[in-house]
Amino acid sequence: MSSRPFLILGIPGSLRRGSYNRGLLRAAQEVAPECVQIELFELHEIPPYNEDVRQQGVPEPVARLNATIVAADAVLIATPEYNWSIPGVLKNAIDWVSRPPASTPLRRKPVAVIGASGGLSGTIRAQLALRQVLFSLESYVLPKPDLWVRNAGQLFDQEGRLIDEETRQRLHEVLEALVDWTERLRD
Ligand SMILES: Cc1cc2nc3c(=O)[nH]c(=O)nc-3n(C[C@H](O)[C@H](O)[C@H](O)COP(=O)(O)O)c2cc1C
Repeated sequence: MSSRPFLILGIPGSLRRGSYNRGLLRAAQEVAPECVQIELFELHEIPPYNEDVRQQGVPEPVARLNATIVAADAVLIATPEYNWSIPGVLKNAIDWVSRPPASTPLRRKPVAVIGASGGLSGTIRAQLALRQVLFSLESYVLPKPDLWVRNAGQLFDQEGRLIDEETRQRLHEVLEALVDWTERLRD
């Protein structure tokens, strides 16, 4: 048995300073099982996708995102819901790492999808849209448990810390399931 921690790459699909989705990933770092380490990758520096630019060489932030996905055992994406779908910045980042299709680091990568919104839908439509994108890349998307965080404004404190115990417990269960899913896929 390796003593190396199980490495999860957390990607917040929001650039907002007070993002609930980044808060959700910070909470995941706090409630993670002992063997799990979660690193966050911020999407601020990923440029708009342009095939002409890619032909001239992959931009450094995209290369960094690619490498961190390769190095991770699994990926955890926390997506906001924008107009019933995923934010453009998240789709844009996935589009970058999806090319060329034969070598995308998301192919056969275990990925869990979670999300938080201020409203009642809890990002359910965005999560379904994100799952569809990930299926197109042949990612191994964790089927269950899912986590839709509704009314996020009431579950985080002024500093953006997730204070709702039930949601923290659900988050822990998602992480345990992601580790289990990854290990079963290796077998
Ligand atoms: C352009 C835009 C579209 C939005 N559309 C939805 C939506 O369809 N459903 C929803 O529940 N919330 C929607 N919202 C509200 C977001 O869920 C809310 O801003 C949330 O806090 C964003 O996630 P974040 O806190 O991680 O930035 C929208 C917000 C923006 C800026």
